[in-house]
Amino acid sequence: MKALAPLLVFLVLGAVACQDGGNEHRFRVPLASPLAVQAQPYRELVWGDVNIIHTTDTHGWLLGHQKSRPPESNYKGTFGDLASFVSRMNTTAQDKGYDFLLVDTGDLRDGTGVSDGHPKEQWAGEETDKFFLRMPYDVMTIGNHELYNPPTVAYDMHANFSKKTKRYLTSNAFITINGDNGLTKTVPIGWQFAKFKTSRKRLNVTAFGVTFNATGISPNVSVQPAEIMVNQPWFLDAIKERPSFFLLTGHMSVGERFNDWRAVVKPIRDLHKDTPIIILAGHTHLRNCTQFDDDKVVAIESGAFMDTVGWLSFNLSNTDKPLDYSRRYLDPNRVTYKYHTHTQKDEDFDTDEGKSITKDLWKLYDDFHLSRVWGSSPKDYTLFRVSNNSVLDLFVGEALPGVLNNVTCKGSKKRPKFFFINSGVLRYDIYEGIFDQNDQLTAAPYPDKLWCVSNVALVDAKRANATMNGSNGQAYLPVDLREARRRETAEVDAIRRNWLLQMSTHADPELQQDDRTLGYVTTDQCGNRQAGDGDDVKHNPISFLSHLPKIVIGPSTVTAPFVDLVILDHGWRDVLGNLSVPDHKYTESDIDKNFTNLTTNEVLGKYAQIAWPPKHELRP
Ligand SMILES: *[C@@H]1O[C@H](CO)[C@@H](O)[C@H](O)[C@H]1NC(C)=O
Ligand SMILES: *[C@@H]1O[C@H](CO)[C@@H](O)[C@H](O)[C@H]1NC(C)=O
Ligand SMILES: *[C@@H]1O[C@H](CO)[C@@H](O)[C@H](O)[C@H]1NC(C)=O
Ligand SMILES: *[C@@H]1O[C@H](CO)[C@@H](O)[C@H](O)[C@H]1NC(C)=O
Ligand SMILES: *[C@@H]1O[C@H](CO)[C@@H](O)[C@H](O)[C@H]1NC(C)=O
Ligand SMILES: *[C@@H]1O[C@H](CO)[C@@H](O)[C@H](O)[C@H]1NC(C)=O
Ligand SMILES: *[C@@H]1O[C@H](CO)[C@@H](O)[C@H](O)[C@H]1NC(C)=O
Ligand SMILES: *[C@@H]1O[C@H](CO)[C@@H](O)[C@H](O)[C@H]1NC(C)=O
Ligand SMILES: *[C@@H]1O[C@H](CO)[C@@H](O)[C@H](O)[C@H]1NC(C)=O
Ligand SMILES: *[C@@H]1O[C@H](CO)[C@@H](O)[C@H](O)[C@H]1NC(C)=O
Ligand SMILES: *[C@@H]1O[C@H](CO)[C@@H](O)[C@H](O)[C@H]1NC(C)=O
Ligand SMILES: *[C@@H]1O[C@H](CO)[C@@H](O)[C@H](O)[C@H]1NC(C)=O
Ligand SMILES: [Zn+2]
Repeated sequence: MKALAPLLVFLVLGAVACQDGGNEHRFRVPLASPLAVQAQPYRELVWGDVNIIHTTDTHGWLLGHQKSRPPESNYKGTFGDLASFVSRMNTTAQDKGYDFLLVDTGDLRDGTGVSDGHPKEQWAGEETDKFFLRMPYDVMTIGNHELYNPPTVAYDMHANFSKKTKRYLTSNAFITINGDNGLTKTVPIGWQFAKFKTSRKRLNVTAFGVTFNATGISPNVSVQPAEIMVNQPWFLDAIKERPSFFLLTGHMSVGERFNDWRAVVKPIRDLHKDTPIIILAGHTHLRNCTQFDDDKVVAIESGAFMDTVGWLSFNLSNTDKPLDYSRRYLDPNRVTYKYHTHTQKDEDFDTDEGKSITKDLWKLYDDFHLSRVWGSSPKDYTLFRVSNNSVLDLFVGEALPGVLNNVTCKGSKKRPKFFFINSGVLRYDIYEGIFDQNDQLTAAPYPDKLWCVSNVALVDAKRANATMNGSNGQAYLPVDLREARRRETAEVDAIRRNWLLQMSTHADPELQQDDRTLGYVTTDQCGNRQAGDGDDVKHNPISFLSHLPKIVIGPSTVTAPFVDLVILDHGWRDVLGNLSVPDHKYTESDIDKNFTNLTTNEVLGKYAQIAWPPKHELRP
């Protein structure tokens, strides 16, 4: 069998916008991409009595990863492609008489333009939520990103979204709303549990949706710790009856942190010695699977950012034997989907609804002006992957100096500008080719302001860089996030990075093979526990940096003894403190706060306009 299915993709991804007498014209243009190579799965999925497809932490990536560079191209499938896949798999399940469930475990927003680019900030993610309602999800649960500010999001999940889903389970997440009597009342955001029968084998399912003890959430919402939840009468009542299996969904991890699953499993196991307990987890943005101490509990976590579609199947037949189950982490793309649905031609794979979902997502892309092209990046710039081009260096070394070239600090042109920026302003790589508004929002989402400290000794800036990057350094605090939220988000990033790092350093060099594309090589505690056993496609691991600096400074060409230092508008007291030496204290009066109106989420686009003219072939 051919391991690689090279795709010459002619996708209608880009759109060139041009200003013409104030009218913005968009042209959809075909982009030939010889780099898009998606490897095929090498074995069929294992079916069981019950088969579950799991998504989690999608964070707005419903159009998939559009770039053609590996490993991004592994994740190119759109939500419409997933809809077609789910529909075809359900038909296969029906033919075999098996049950088939679709589950999502939260974090629908904060990641790309289609969720974050909503013109009304308080409704961020509201348009992408509608695509979840078009999918036949059997169970969904809430993520911490639905609980953070603005409070309108949690309210929308409660008042509107949950009512339109089959089962939006929030066993321990509550919202305080106005009651009919003029008093406030605290109610579950969705339903606390559900009991239902599967459609084919008429199995009894008892399902919950449990969230980790999130902090830094909106004032109107609260999470009851799982260990308190399990003592509530409603919970004890719900678990009394013995179902065919328990379906524990939740925004909690399979790994060591953000994991209260044991607290939920214990009271169930105390009552029901051998009822299977199936756990669908999330939050830490990685692939993982484990079996608890008893062999009838299995927990899977299925990645993030639509880089993974999880598969968990199991048989119920032999109640006295260990659970027969199979787990798989699919690369969400059409090659994967067609392989597992045994379809070759598009017309045999795509469903009308699938095509319609993709079309409507692209329409949303246009409606939110995400297709506005700022330029065409000449190369890849990476944040955490090892490469020759760092997106951090690009930001402080070229982009900021370029776009702020004519701006003066306190009106003086005497000194060169030097940039002292927290690395947390960036969250994603930039890939060669079209750089549009969506790429800008994905790479640098936060509207941080830029201030300027006038007349700073370069040695002070360099010393502050060293100090703040050392152990005493304060990590980045994005302007719109409160401390607790930031800590949670940063910890998730650290766990994910650690996973990525482990797979590149622990990978057996013999596993590196020329015919493999770059991608995840997962080691977990399920199956045969071999690296890559759960991954649907065999990949070579990607190399990642072991460490990201908290502060980046530049450009390196600046050597003048005194500079005007450009900083962010928060954490600035900390910066001033670290710049200061006993005989020279920098104070707030040294800062020019009216330096520029440009925010950090506009810098790359403006820079692309100056430095990265769209390539010839991109023009209509
Ligand atoms: C599977 O098909 C049944 C009809 O046979 C339908 O009720 C159910 O919603 C579908 N589920 C999924 C996840 O596609
Ligand atoms: C959230 O709570 C605040 C104050 O407690 C209230 O003013 C606001 O209307 C609430 N928001 C929602 C969406 O219920
Ligand atoms: C949600 O429902 C409330 C009450 O019905 C309504 O006022 C509000 O506009 C809805 N929000 C959205 C985003 O649809
Ligand atoms: C499901 O539960 C009902 C009682 O609520 C019981 O009659 C039925 O046998 C159960 N089905 C299975 C497959 O266990
Ligand atoms: C949950 O979080 C709150 C707020 O940080 C804390 O007071 C409480 O101890 C936590 N509970 C558990 C079980 O972690
Ligand atoms: C996967 O889960 C297991 C079991 O909780 C845990 O020991 C392991 O650290 C997790 N792996 C990662 C990469 O977090
Ligand atoms: C379920 O049982 C069937 C028949 O024995 C077997 O072919 C299949 O591999 C089993 N599925 C799982 C997930 O173990
Ligand atoms: C960096 O550039 C050199 C020279 O062009 C090349 O050989 C090397 O593979 C590049 N490294 C990475 C990680 O791309
Ligand atoms: C700076 O000013 C020069 C001369 O007026 C102009 O050509 C250039 O486009 C300006 N640069 C920026 C980034 O605005
Ligand atoms: C800033 O600090 C980092 C981390 O200590 C260091 O690698 C880098 O070289 C420093 N930058 C400069 C220009 O000194
Ligand atoms: C900065 O601009 C604001 C409004 O844009 C103005 O109110 C303020 O006086 C300005 N401050 C200085 C120091 O120019
Ligand atoms: C920033 O915006 C304010 C208010 O819109 C405006 O008064 C000011 O001139 C702008 N400053 C710069 C440097 O563009
Ligand atoms: Zn998440």
